[in-house]
Amino acid sequence: MKMNKRQFLKSAAALSSLTLLPGCDWETSDQKRLRTAHIGVGNMGGEDLKAISSHEMVDVVALCDVDSNNLSAAAKLHPKAKRFTDYRDLFKEMKDQIDAVIVSTPDHTHAPASMMAMNHDKPVYCQKPLTHHVTEARAMNQLAADKNLVTQMGIQVHSFYDYKLATLLIQSGIIGKVSTVRAWSPKNWGYDGPEPEGSDPIPGHLDWDLWLGTSKERPFKKDVYHPGNWRKLLDYGCGTLGDMGVHIFDTPYNALALDVPLTITNNCRPPTGFGYPEANTVTYEFPQTQYTTETLKWVWYDGPSAPEMHSDLELPDGATLPDQGAMFMGEKGKLLLPHFMELPRLIVDGAYVELDQDLIDSFQLGTPIRDYELEGNMHYHQFVDACLGKATTTAPFSYSAKLTETILLGVIAGRFPNETLHWDSQKAKFSELKANTYLDGSYRTF
Ligand SMILES: NC(=O)c1ccc[n+]([C@@H]2O[C@H](COP(=O)([O-])OP(=O)(O)OC[C@H]3O[C@@H](n4cnc5c(N)ncnc54)[C@H](O)[C@@H]3O)[C@@H](O)[C@H]2O)c1
Repeated sequence: MKMNKRQFLKSAAALSSLTLLPGCDWETSDQKRLRTAHIGVGNMGGEDLKAISSHEMVDVVALCDVDSNNLSAAAKLHPKAKRFTDYRDLFKEMKDQIDAVIVSTPDHTHAPASMMAMNHDKPVYCQKPLTHHVTEARAMNQLAADKNLVTQMGIQVHSFYDYKLATLLIQSGIIGKVSTVRAWSPKNWGYDGPEPEGSDPIPGHLDWDLWLGTSKERPFKKDVYHPGNWRKLLDYGCGTLGDMGVHIFDTPYNALALDVPLTITNNCRPPTGFGYPEANTVTYEFPQTQYTTETLKWVWYDGPSAPEMHSDLELPDGATLPDQGAMFMGEKGKLLLPHFMELPRLIVDGAYVELDQDLIDSFQLGTPIRDYELEGNMHYHQFVDACLGKATTTAPFSYSAKLTETILLGVIAGRFPNETLHWDSQKAKFSELKANTYLDGSYRTF
């Protein structure tokens, strides 16, 4: 039986209305510990597991992965945790023994697993981008709001010193109102070739049907999908924009208090129906906010030769641009935000200007930690503390669903190269009817 996403989300809403206990609404006490379940524990999931479990009030009670090698490696670190291959079994068996869920699977499984967790009233830490489809992002946001659940998206740099500093500098008006942001990553999570033919034997350690999950059936090919390379492909990932853009766009999005865009244009090669373009230049136009000029233009460059050179990106004394980053262009100057772990740089009249220390001190951000693990843990610990009633998260789904929607609109624009798409946020539709097909997708019953 096929179920489209709207039907799935309707049934999810019906299930949610039957559930009585609110997610994180237990009695707050200093002794309360958080029992976590982790779905996807290889690669980034392993990092997420390490970071969450480094909080002294966390007990890891359940681990789930469709690859038994990754599951075994995680279980070595948490031998008392119960192991699962199928996240549906995890909820069936342990729904009353878990307090929060961490979802670190490929993108196409984020919404199905997170919606199930939230329908069981569990707070969710979900990796970025929040979802694979725009409708899923809206549904995740709605369900989290309806149930008043603690949520956080895995954009850990949101909690790093340099990004918080850049946000406060922009909001202090240091470069005046901002008219343009240019951001770039030379990473290539695209694939311009054809879909490979034939199939390879499924390795004994992988449950391929569960890996596909709600996506359509497809023969297994070694090194094409699992692990990691699914990012390059339309059915599972979101290309380089969905992968790196969501990190690099987070600070401009937050600092400029942007909502969703009015128009989106992606300059890239024609669609192949299988992989994302290997090079994209995506231009967004946003409505004015208190920190922007009448409109805000945001340009994203990715692919091996990114960024395309532009006079906005020239640095003092002909210095080389950082490998990845963002440049804010304002009425009074520019702010360069390298990605990552480097201070933002103020540029006025073509020269670097020292940041005013009194202004920085007034932000009360403390000092840069400059240790990726320690600084990264802050984002995860904030989620744990919020679940324990002692903090609030800074990238909840109410924020990250809109950021994700914005990113996904640029990804969809890649299906219509060089054509400007117009987005109506109220109706959640493009004016170009043909583009609306890609806002949603159907779920396979597996
Ligand atoms: N925040 C960051 O800095 C950062 C960095 C890397 C990746 N990510 C995100 O983390 C997620 C995972 O990326 P990755 O690089 O680790 O991918 P990966 O393919 O290397 O690992 C995914 C893991 O999930 C498992 N998995 C797949 N389907 C599953 C399912 N249905 N149930 C349970 N386990 C399943 C896989 O077996 C594997 O262990 C992605 O959403 C990615 O965007 C975030």
